[in-house]
Amino acid sequence: MDKKFFIKTFGCQMNVYDSHRMAKMLEEMGLKETTLQEEADVVVFNTCHIREKAAEKVFSDLGRAYLIKQERQEQGKDTIIGVTGCVVQAEDTQIMKRAPYVDFALGPLRYFRIKEVVESIFQQRETKLLDTEFSAVSKFDYLPENKAKGGCSFLAIQEGCNNFCTYCVVPYTRGVEVSRPIEEVLNEARRLVETGSVELNLLGQNVNSYHGEDKNGVERNLAYLLNKIAEIDGLERIRYTTSYPADVNDDLIDCHKNLKKLMPYLHLPIQSGSDSILKKMNRRHTKDEYLRVVEKLKEANPLIGMSSDFIVGFPGESDKDFQDTLDVVNRVKYIQAFSFKYSRRPGTPASVMDNQVEEKVKKERLQILQDLLFDYQLKFNQESVGKIMPVLFEGDGRHKGQLTGRTPYMQNLYAKADNSLLNKIVSVKVTGASTNSLKGEVL
Ligand code: 5AD
Ligand code: SF4
Repeated sequence: MDKKFFIKTFGCQMNVYDSHRMAKMLEEMGLKETTLQEEADVVVFNTCHIREKAAEKVFSDLGRAYLIKQERQEQGKDTIIGVTGCVVQAEDTQIMKRAPYVDFALGPLRYFRIKEVVESIFQQRETKLLDTEFSAVSKFDYLPENKAKGGCSFLAIQEGCNNFCTYCVVPYTRGVEVSRPIEEVLNEARRLVETGSVELNLLGQNVNSYHGEDKNGVERNLAYLLNKIAEIDGLERIRYTTSYPADVNDDLIDCHKNLKKLMPYLHLPIQSGSDSILKKMNRRHTKDEYLRVVEKLKEANPLIGMSSDFIVGFPGESDKDFQDTLDVVNRVKYIQAFSFKYSRRPGTPASVMDNQVEEKVKKERLQILQDLLFDYQLKFNQESVGKIMPVLFEGDGRHKGQLTGRTPYMQNLYAKADNSLLNKIVSVKVTGASTNSLKGEVL
């Protein structure tokens, strides 16, 4: 088959993982991936519903895809347009109403059907399909074997969330928590390493509440799994994301002390530093409990760098609440962070709470928070200058003859390097720093 596909991914790393799995399935049908939407016979948007902006962007992209489809039609070429991911789950039948030219829409737990669906549309053009079932079966049972795409691979070990933070759509789009069995994860991990990955990033919406069954049907935690994964020869780096503060237990903290392969970096979102806001968010931790977890992690590994997500302007957030958030930043000194204005998501409890914060105030607070976060990030990056760091090169740099890679701390580093170093971990001397990246020289 001389056909091509194009996938655009929005949102989180779980979506990146899912897109990679879909690409593999389409390749198995004989289709080739292209980065040019105009030449694709199958166009897939893997969507994100977490904030309004991300969700709305999909519809403008879909509008553009329809124009391209019409242009291609004039040249006698057919185009299949598909939508997958969390917007499909949240909008359900609305999606086909808002974008009637969409050929198929599969929810995040149903994309394993993509091959069958695309095949049937190729054969019988009039087919339209929407599948947003919250299936009892695990999609992982239906996915073909995963193979490495590069030196660093994502591996989904857990999906869904039972926390129901009041602002968040995830429990409604990805469903309740499901952990994959230990052996299944280990098999996928081994295969990814055998096919070229030296780094694995274990993924889950609430990854540290992982409780997969082992061979004997005994439930095991994330620390157990990390220890098993660390035994894989050829694997050099392990990460896991995203963690929930109240579910960080002592076993997991010990991993940061004992497992050399576990990178000294942890993304541990606090969202807000105010106890009253945390309560309204339905978070199961206070500011002090969070700070205690960070302290323990730093005791286990003094070199650990922390990262977080923050939401400003949650309903009822006062200036004092916001100051508490800044206080957390000043105490933890994050080396990286993601911060967002609160976005009202339909169907979530917070969207109908009183005292919604004015857009102007949200904007001001976000600016203040980001300025502070960037200061710490820049300072950390500047302190890296002069150091020798192991960098995993992952792709082309900004200029010719340059590659880009990641340090253990997830810093982006650019260096002059030839392609033979791609997907390898290489010693690099850091020679320059900005807020978002480092420059270095390969040793
Ligand atoms: N508004 C703003 N940010 C949100 N997030 C989740 N839901 C919302 C929302 N309604 C942020 C949280 C989460 C990250 C993935 O997205 O900070 O950790
Ligand atoms: Fe959403 Fe909270 Fe679950 Fe994270 S922990 S996915 S923010 S509900």
